[in-house]
Amino acid sequence: MVNITREDQLFHLKNERISYILGLMPGGVLAHLYFGPALRRVNEKALLRHMGVAADDTFTLQGCSLDRLAQEYPSFGLGDMREGALAVEASDGTTAVDLRFAEAEILSGKPALPGLPATFGDNCQTLRVTLRDACTGLEVRLLYTVFDDCDVIARSACIRNGGAEKMTVTRALSLCLDLPDADWQLITLNGAWAREREINRRPLMPGEQGTASRNGASSLQTSPFLALARPQADESMGEVLGAALVYSGNFLAQANVNQYGSTRMLLGIHDRDFAWQLQPGESFQIPEAVLVYSREGLGGMSRAFHGLWQRHLLPPRWVNKPRPVLLNSWEAAYFDFDEDKLVDIARSAAQAGVELFVCDDGWFGHRDDDTTSLGDWYSDLRKLPGGIRRLGERVRETGVQFGIWMEPEMVSPESDLYRAHPDWCIRIPGREPITARSQLTLDVGSPEVQDFIYDVVSTTLRESGAVYLKWDMNRNFSNIGTAALPKERQKELPHRYILGLYAVMERLTHDFPDVLFEGCASGGGRFDPGMLYYVPQFWCSDNTDALSRCRIQYGTSLFLPTSAMGSHVSAVPNHQTGRVTPLESRFAVAVSGCFGYELDPRKLTEEEQAALHGQVAFAHRTDKLRLSGVFYRLLSPFEGNDTAWMTVSEDQKEALFTLVRGHALPNAVPMLVRLQGLCPNLRYLVEQTGESYGGDELMYSGLLCPLPQGDAASLLYTLKAVD
Ligand code: GLA
Repeated sequence: MVNITREDQLFHLKNERISYILGLMPGGVLAHLYFGPALRRVNEKALLRHMGVAADDTFTLQGCSLDRLAQEYPSFGLGDMREGALAVEASDGTTAVDLRFAEAEILSGKPALPGLPATFGDNCQTLRVTLRDACTGLEVRLLYTVFDDCDVIARSACIRNGGAEKMTVTRALSLCLDLPDADWQLITLNGAWAREREINRRPLMPGEQGTASRNGASSLQTSPFLALARPQADESMGEVLGAALVYSGNFLAQANVNQYGSTRMLLGIHDRDFAWQLQPGESFQIPEAVLVYSREGLGGMSRAFHGLWQRHLLPPRWVNKPRPVLLNSWEAAYFDFDEDKLVDIARSAAQAGVELFVCDDGWFGHRDDDTTSLGDWYSDLRKLPGGIRRLGERVRETGVQFGIWMEPEMVSPESDLYRAHPDWCIRIPGREPITARSQLTLDVGSPEVQDFIYDVVSTTLRESGAVYLKWDMNRNFSNIGTAALPKERQKELPHRYILGLYAVMERLTHDFPDVLFEGCASGGGRFDPGMLYYVPQFWCSDNTDALSRCRIQYGTSLFLPTSAMGSHVSAVPNHQTGRVTPLESRFAVAVSGCFGYELDPRKLTEEEQAALHGQVAFAHRTDKLRLSGVFYRLLSPFEGNDTAWMTVSEDQKEALFTLVRGHALPNAVPMLVRLQGLCPNLRYLVEQTGESYGGDELMYSGLLCPLPQGDAASLLYTLKAVD
């Protein structure tokens, strides 16, 4: 049961497991008092002392330093010397903002955020607190939602210009969480193309630290996520706070330690290349941030995130729907194909049991490589004489469904679209446009561009009969400027871009509810909760090497569910690493996510083709478990040579266990891996060995794992409760 109460000067949000408490100081400043395990009763004065405030009734800005007060939504210019959440420039050019309590309301359910993805649900309550700056008329409405089934607080804010003069918002973060001590370790995800989301953990130091993206997207280099873990916290024990932003653009995520040794967690849109004009009466909606509390270590934090996204964020019509096993043409053919070749690959895929064939890049304009044609979304008749319509028909005749690739946000300078609308792309007039992968970015914030994207995508879907669309995005922002906005609004471009993207995704997913959209951004470059509101799966990385994928998928699972990770078996030697790994291991890793293939099935041996049948059947046998199961990490590839994880069904009657060894070890004895999440009182049959064990035995003693010899050896077991 969720429950929000106002007790005197306190607002207490709680469910059965967590509490979040805000307090009103006598001057009306909104203080943060507590986030952690559920509290039944609280002593207001003790809490205030705990947060470093003199607990008397004489609190005024003059009487108490804001620098020591734990606050909910701090601004700048009133004596708090830390980085704040909100910065606004008033019409007189000054920047001090003094927000005081105006009113509060408790709402059942959760209001949607206009124009932005956000968590939703009925089993929740929301506290809305309005703060006001008397001098400028600036108003901030903070929303806090507590759900009854997740150990999570969802936060967002809306800023309104309630004054008579124009103002400019120059920083508007989604989350500030002030914590009384700094005995934490900071965890962020950092990486690069083909090695996304490596886990980095380090002790907090005095000063500012964290991660950020200024790329225009949440990026390949990092993710809109951070966690604070107690030094002794591990996968299954200890206190961990996690925060994630439901947003796909520039962001900053920080944990800053001040002179008093307290920590301030900040998360929201990055203030680089950001400024938003508010005329009198206008509002700015800030994206949602989600805060998780776990006493069960990092594993508990991840499960709270996964459960939240699964029940309250992912598109409901897809979340538990088995996905077709697909084969993507990219690594099978790259740009080198014609209609017959693709149909031939599709036929061979169909024979192997695959259900969906995806034609990747290269089907449009005159695109023989990546230097031309983005924007010219009409069939290249040299390769596809009957267009994508006939390709779709012929592919379906082989017995599989048809899917297609597009990169709708981009334009190649060498394209008809660019020649017709050079003003549609992001560029600064008078400066040479900077290309990346020989392409420019369309200004998706502009309604004209949004309409164009909607039209070309919907025409492509209708013409080809595609039931799947891979939506790619392959470059960062540079030379940020647009002809569509006046000079005082140029810094609105990056956020307007993301709003435009969301608006198009909203229209398309609404108008094509049966099309499965998979996100992609050079692999996992925009794999974030914002996109997962629209697309139920995301291509996790362009790196399909099984061992690389162990790290990438393990790191990604810190805050995103395996059920959303596009993950394919590819050919060996692997195209990104040159490594040769066994087919079984490539399968074991790929089937941990949204399963498919990225290879030319015609080039497989007969034995391998036969194995594919078994793999597809295995994927479907475990569909429900893989989509809705609870995920446990067991052995970390960041800490050793082995990776292990498992997924347990909600009723604990079934589980899927995966173990992958990195390099082979000579003279190795079978290892014991301790499982998690099982019911200690049940007996489980390991279907592949025929052995059965007690759930307690598997968790406390371990499962004996006789790995085969060789590098990248693996085990993939299904467990079934037998009594
Ligand atoms: C990006 C994607 C790949 C592939 C290529 C096509 O790199 O991440 O999967 O679609 O584009 O150009």
